[in-house]
Amino acid sequence: MSNKTMLTPELEQYWTEIANTFQWKKKWDTLQTGDFEQVNIEWFKGAKLNITENCLDRHLEHRRNKKAVIFEPNNPNEAAAFYTFGELHVAVCRFSNLLKKQGLKKGDVVCFYMGMTPELLIGLLACARLGIVHTVVFGGFSSQSLHGRLQDSKAKLIVTHDGSFRGDKIVPLKAMVDEALDNQNWGELSVEKVLVVKRTQQEITMKQGRDYWYETLIKDCDIYCPAVEVEAEDPLFILYTSGSTGKPKGLLHTTAGYMVHAANSFKEVFQIKEADVFWCTADIGWITGHSYIIYGPLLNGTTTVMFEGIPNYPTPARFWEVVEKHHVTHLYTAPTAIRSLEKFGSEIPDQFSMKSLKVLGSVGEPINEEAWQWYHKHVGKGRCPIVDTWWQTETGGIMISPLAGITNLKPAHATLPLKGIVPMLVDEKGVEIKDTVAEGNLCIKMPWPSMARTIYGDHARFIQTYFSTYKGLYFTGDGAKRDSDSYYRITGRVDDVINVSGHRIGTAEVEDAINEHPNVTESAVVGFPHDIKGQGIYAFVTALHPHVDVATLEKEIRETVQKIIGPIAKPDQIQVVEGLPKTRSGKIMRRILRKIVENDIANIGDTSTLLNPECVDKIIEGKKK
Ligand code: WT7
Repeated sequence: MSNKTMLTPELEQYWTEIANTFQWKKKWDTLQTGDFEQVNIEWFKGAKLNITENCLDRHLEHRRNKKAVIFEPNNPNEAAAFYTFGELHVAVCRFSNLLKKQGLKKGDVVCFYMGMTPELLIGLLACARLGIVHTVVFGGFSSQSLHGRLQDSKAKLIVTHDGSFRGDKIVPLKAMVDEALDNQNWGELSVEKVLVVKRTQQEITMKQGRDYWYETLIKDCDIYCPAVEVEAEDPLFILYTSGSTGKPKGLLHTTAGYMVHAANSFKEVFQIKEADVFWCTADIGWITGHSYIIYGPLLNGTTTVMFEGIPNYPTPARFWEVVEKHHVTHLYTAPTAIRSLEKFGSEIPDQFSMKSLKVLGSVGEPINEEAWQWYHKHVGKGRCPIVDTWWQTETGGIMISPLAGITNLKPAHATLPLKGIVPMLVDEKGVEIKDTVAEGNLCIKMPWPSMARTIYGDHARFIQTYFSTYKGLYFTGDGAKRDSDSYYRITGRVDDVINVSGHRIGTAEVEDAINEHPNVTESAVVGFPHDIKGQGIYAFVTALHPHVDVATLEKEIRETVQKIIGPIAKPDQIQVVEGLPKTRSGKIMRRILRKIVENDIANIGDTSTLLNPECVDKIIEGKKK
């Protein structure tokens, strides 16, 4: 393999300086090799390390008794739990020893399907300590989705809860694991063992020889476990995300590069100080939780808050109570959460001084100006900068964002790239738009350490999805505008991906699920503007038997989607139509459907070349009803 780098000398110098601040067992021979034509990017080749030594061991000297994790349970009447760096180190070591005793070793894959309790964070670090690859499946995915991810990742062990608390509901996680493992129609898995962490105390069935209680096994585990030496490019985790086509993609992140950028972006963007308390409200099932609940904060020796619950349980004051209770200095949340809390009125946050707060963050979707202003005024009391952070599962860490207190803010703008990150805008043909003021498709020009290296098991798809639309560039799938200050404003996805409450959902995946309903012939799914979720899911379906009871069909379609993907992908609107607009070659014209759901009828354009132009008016009529 060639030793060529794509980086400029300035970029090389920058990343070398940053990387030098970590603890390595051996430093790298080459900083970066490979390019976007061959899609063979590597960072820190030759280096050896263990990321948990950087998260834990190296803090033991000066931060042993500093709080590492604050756990705030779903129910405010249950006591919070705390782990110092010293205690967390012990907890991780014990969990590592447990995994070791169960026969797991470097390179194996362990799947986590859990609620947000400390054991999840501890378990991931325990894997990393042994060079075991972790893959977290969000608890809001169905058994069938879990099965698909287990099959794809070839996980040997699952860690789960008996059940998990979520607002006033309980998610029966273990029962869902049982279904994923026992359903004979879904194909073989490599799962040998299930480790169950007690949380809800509900009744579950334990299968002899397969299922084990965490509490029983952990008792005998030693409090120290040496950190296994791994190579810079050894995999750290796989995380699944939806794309515009096909099944979810397992994005693979490797150890050293991910560590360097997760840590550095955290420090830079949030301008963290030693005594700060950082709260990212995301679930660890998403990349935001990986990078900014676990790795970013712990790598920096920062106290991180882990919240089990949801924003409006037991009341919509919950977030503000948690901020005050734990003296949170940095609150990092999603526009959808802000909008949903705004709905309950400003009086609620106005009752809290939240004087500990210094910095607010936003992530997951474009934040509209109104929500930005509300967040700034009623949560930040006009004195906290808001960092609107743009990034993706694929990028591993924040790419474009203000630096708190440094960058001049402009509401709803992600502003400038972080140092070391080189974005660009291209036109339809892939030609770089050099004018400062511009609008185009957002690409990244140069490799950065925490970029995903591949789609697990399908490198061809990785190349196809990200590096073939525009030769030699990483294509993000997002559109963006750039203003006269060179500030970026992300306008949203330009592909068939919907962003529902900051969760990425591929339209094709939802359509495939809907089409499983025996009475659905065809479906087309598009996103529509939604006050709280940002985008909602609108499904157009044609039915096999025309005289179906529409209400029943809609209900069953929702159930089908919930069963196949999970509640997060349930359509908000379903419209049964006689026909879907198609080109002469039979391709569904989603563009037209998008205009219809956006109530932008004037811009539908010429429909006369369609195979079935008459259906468009019928759909518009039907939507009015
Ligand atoms: C997509 C990535 C990694 C963040 C959590 C979501 C959208 C993300 C912003 C932002 C506008 C944003 C993009 C991106 N997005 N942050 N600050 N402003 N859009 O991760 O599920 O991988 O989704 O979320 O469309 O491509 P994800």
